[in-house]
Amino acid sequence: VRQPIIAIDGPAGAGKSTVTRRVAQALNLVYLDTGAMYRAIAWLVLQSGVELSDYGAIAELVSQAKLEFLPPFEGKPPQIYINGQDISQAIRTPQVTALVSPLSAQASVRAKLVAYQQQLGKKGGIVAEGRDIGTNVFPDAEVKIYLTASVQERARRRLLDFQAQGEENMSLEQLEHDIEQRDYLDSNRCLAPLRKAVDAIEINTDGLSIEEVIDKILNVCPK
Ligand code: C5P
Repeated sequence: VRQPIIAIDGPAGAGKSTVTRRVAQALNLVYLDTGAMYRAIAWLVLQSGVELSDYGAIAELVSQAKLEFLPPFEGKPPQIYINGQDISQAIRTPQVTALVSPLSAQASVRAKLVAYQQQLGKKGGIVAEGRDIGTNVFPDAEVKIYLTASVQERARRRLLDFQAQGEENMSLEQLEHDIEQRDYLDSNRCLAPLRKAVDAIEINTDGLSIEEVIDKILNVCPK
């Protein structure tokens, strides 16, 4: 029998990463961070100096890129490589974050990454987080979750994350603005926009602890 696929979609900062990783661990399934893949392409585009509007050059860059996502292993965090280079840290900079949403609207980028994700999920047994997992990448996923939270709550969590990393110069207003901007772009693009799948279970995480969110998800997953 095929192992299940659990799809966890939702807007930026709703808590998907922590929750998805922990659900994968609890179910002993493979964790897949599809956002990291879009970020990897954004990093490559920044490195190359190609303009965002140069669709042809981006398509060329993407077609030649060798991408590898390694799930967490024995306590080591997940890693992402592009063309043999470990860029797991480099994909988290504000420059990459600012470029990733407009870039991920491009057809060449989505085609490449969706094919890679479907290849990784061919045999099932994964918990994947992203924006279009339940609607587009794995429309037959056994469980679909749509995680949300208010913009204020998501910005507040991001601020705490930054502060925990020793980054004190972020303002709540700026983070709210960035999140709204990314939500807008991700929800309004033509190709596979961020949407709750009709058969997804929506969980609003405002005021819920991580444990509570994980419990809610595990409750609807096949044992
Ligand atoms: O989840 P994360 O914030 O790392 O995602 C970065 C960006 O990658 C999103 O804002 C979105 O533009 C894009 N993305 C996407 N489809 C996915 C996952 C991420 O378009 N399945």
